[in-house]
Amino acid sequence: MSQAPHKPNRSIERLRYVLCIRLFSRPKRGILNTNRKTKVSLKKVCEPPGPKAKEWVKRDSAVLSPYNRPYYYPMVVEKGHGCIVEDVDGNEYIDFNSGLGAMNVGHCHPEVVKAIADQSKRLLHYSYTDFYYRYAVELGEKLQKITPGSFPKKVFLSGSGAESIEAFAKVARWHSKRPMFLAFTGAFHGRSMGALSFTASSIVQKARYFPTMPGVEHVPYAYCYRCPYKQTFPDCDYWCVDFIDDWVFKKFMPPQETASILIEPIQGEGGYIVPPKDYHRRLKKLMDKHGILYTVDEVQSGMGRTGKWCAIENFGVIPDIVCMSKALGGGISLGATIGRAEIYDWAPGSHCTTLGGTPVACEASLATMRIIEKEKLKENAVKQGEYILKRLNEWVKKYEIIGDVRGKGLMIGVEIIKDKKSKAKDGDAAHDIIHHAWKKGVVAIGAGENCFRIAPPLMITRDYVDAGLDALEESIKEVMKK
Ligand SMILES: Cc1ncc(COP(=O)(O)O)c(C=O)c1O
Repeated sequence: MSQAPHKPNRSIERLRYVLCIRLFSRPKRGILNTNRKTKVSLKKVCEPPGPKAKEWVKRDSAVLSPYNRPYYYPMVVEKGHGCIVEDVDGNEYIDFNSGLGAMNVGHCHPEVVKAIADQSKRLLHYSYTDFYYRYAVELGEKLQKITPGSFPKKVFLSGSGAESIEAFAKVARWHSKRPMFLAFTGAFHGRSMGALSFTASSIVQKARYFPTMPGVEHVPYAYCYRCPYKQTFPDCDYWCVDFIDDWVFKKFMPPQETASILIEPIQGEGGYIVPPKDYHRRLKKLMDKHGILYTVDEVQSGMGRTGKWCAIENFGVIPDIVCMSKALGGGISLGATIGRAEIYDWAPGSHCTTLGGTPVACEASLATMRIIEKEKLKENAVKQGEYILKRLNEWVKKYEIIGDVRGKGLMIGVEIIKDKKSKAKDGDAAHDIIHHAWKKGVVAIGAGENCFRIAPPLMITRDYVDAGLDALEESIKEVMKK
């Protein structure tokens, strides 16, 4: 495992602070209430957003469609190396979101960069769905190995997470000849019309887009901190699973017409929600009873993020179909839908793609997986994740506004509330914390209505973890003082 972020050559090293605890904000009264000194050195050139950033934001808003930005803060990214990103003015930050979960091996890992550069000289594109090339075969073989289950599998390569979901929906309908699907409240599966039909994490993502694809019904996810059924675990005895059989399948959704369930093993955009241990096992048993496929969306939780190649492995369940993307391509667009071989019985031409699984994406992906294995990044995700959760559990005791902390490996969420008694969601405070942390040199983002996520590249070391957490903790205190 690499012990430090990959450092590029820098001709001009402008101003470099060696900071204790507060990273960007130099403490006025010494370090905080800890003896720990994080040896993290981040470059700070100016107060963000700097002049160049402001200029790019102005040009951006004149030409690009409005997206989420500047929902969190106006961060104009210029470079990245390891777990560090640098803005256009030269300020450095610790990346606590991995570029929306896509940079698991860190930014610009030299081996990924080399694989991309080498492949760019050989072949950029030739569409593997109409012709053949070895890069797709090699990636398919690797994906067969790293996904759960030792049975024969087949792989469809595409260009994004949403496309991996589209392929799943089509192949599941084709194979089963059943039209319906079961999905979950809080789920995020992408924004293309098919994928959007499964997404249910925020109303703004769906409003004015109906009708989406018909045939998808949603049931509540196992969100024990805020059980939608107002039950308490473990006394509930997994009522959220039994409800499906007792009500959904008996009242309005014929199980014999249901092709597949689609579920995130750990819910991501919905708030980094970890279901209880037996949840997936029970759900799988129920789906098996009705001959319904079990499909997991590992777009965000896969590729070692939770300490396993696929997060579902943490729950001892073998799915029928796995959707992957984000970190799969090591920074290049790539999606994959991996299923039991017999499911892929669709006729040639039933589903194809032009630029899915390009040679460059395949090589970047294979290099990414080699690095995860060679540098033991899954193991590091577990080690750093356990340490982070230990620190966060202290926050729950210390701070009234920290409601719940949860996660697996380096997929960790912190839920912000108004107070412990009411548990009322405080999205504004979560937003403020993220904003304060950015000013201190940490790029964190939200999840759900009132959470922020801690999801750094898997190669992050303890020093950087501590420095990032210290900045977040200081931000929490500042927001509480308001
Ligand atoms: C779990 C999950 N599925 C699917 C997607 C959609 O991926 P993409 O944005 O590549 O279409 C996302 C994106 O955040 C995701 O988190």
